[in-house]
Amino acid sequence: MKGVILAGGLGTRLNPLTFVTNKHLLPVYDKPMIYYPIETLVKGGITEVLIVTSGPHVGHFLGLLKNGKEFGLTHLEYAYQEKPDGGIADALSIARDFADNGPLAVVLGDNTTDADISEAVKNFKSGGHVFLREVPDPQRYGVATIDPNDKTKLIDIVEKPKNPVSNLAVTGLYLYDNKVFDFIDGIQPSDRGELEITDVNNMYLKKGELGWSMLGGYWTDAGTFDTLYRASKYWFEKHQQDKK
Ligand code: G1P
Repeated sequence: MKGVILAGGLGTRLNPLTFVTNKHLLPVYDKPMIYYPIETLVKGGITEVLIVTSGPHVGHFLGLLKNGKEFGLTHLEYAYQEKPDGGIADALSIARDFADNGPLAVVLGDNTTDADISEAVKNFKSGGHVFLREVPDPQRYGVATIDPNDKTKLIDIVEKPKNPVSNLAVTGLYLYDNKVFDFIDGIQPSDRGELEITDVNNMYLKKGELGWSMLGGYWTDAGTFDTLYRASKYWFEKHQQDKK
């Protein structure tokens, strides 16, 4: 399986930090944010990666990551999203050629986790797969509803609901087969003007082709001041523990 990291957008929630650099190049403890999703993919057994980015600071990615060899990548490609505010699904649509009809592991560039997705990657056959996580503030995420009569069944995902029905966030890690590109072609921009990955996931759901599992280990996004701080704190503390 190949991997795609979505590292576009304008990162406006982190202004003024993002006036002069891309969000995914900001430090999370001792590394640029983008290192974390790369390491997640490599740990998951994925070494062919496409980074989709956008905005005025795209050139810095190449300077930082070069050909990806030092991370254990065998192939690193870059793609440019013309509309930095087009949304996650718009950014993913650019990966069609790279996917070459095969499956993809997709990670949002501002997600940091020490979870091991290698089993899910190995067992993936077709359709889509999302990784869920209990969070204290579900209204900030895509939120999953599990069927109360069949706890194995995911029945709906709502993007940033005002009144979440559960505390299960859909994390920014996804596995997709090649149908994902047809589904993206079939969705319309949301009220915030973006092509939402949640709409794509719901299309898989409607076809009965969306699997899910709980994401183990630590996970947070780092796209707000609070979560950026929280992520740095976690990795700092983990580093201290590992030194002992
Ligand atoms: C995005 C997705 C959301 C998901 C989250 C995970 O939100 O739209 O469904 O739960 O990433 O980090 P955004 O970062 O665009 O607010």
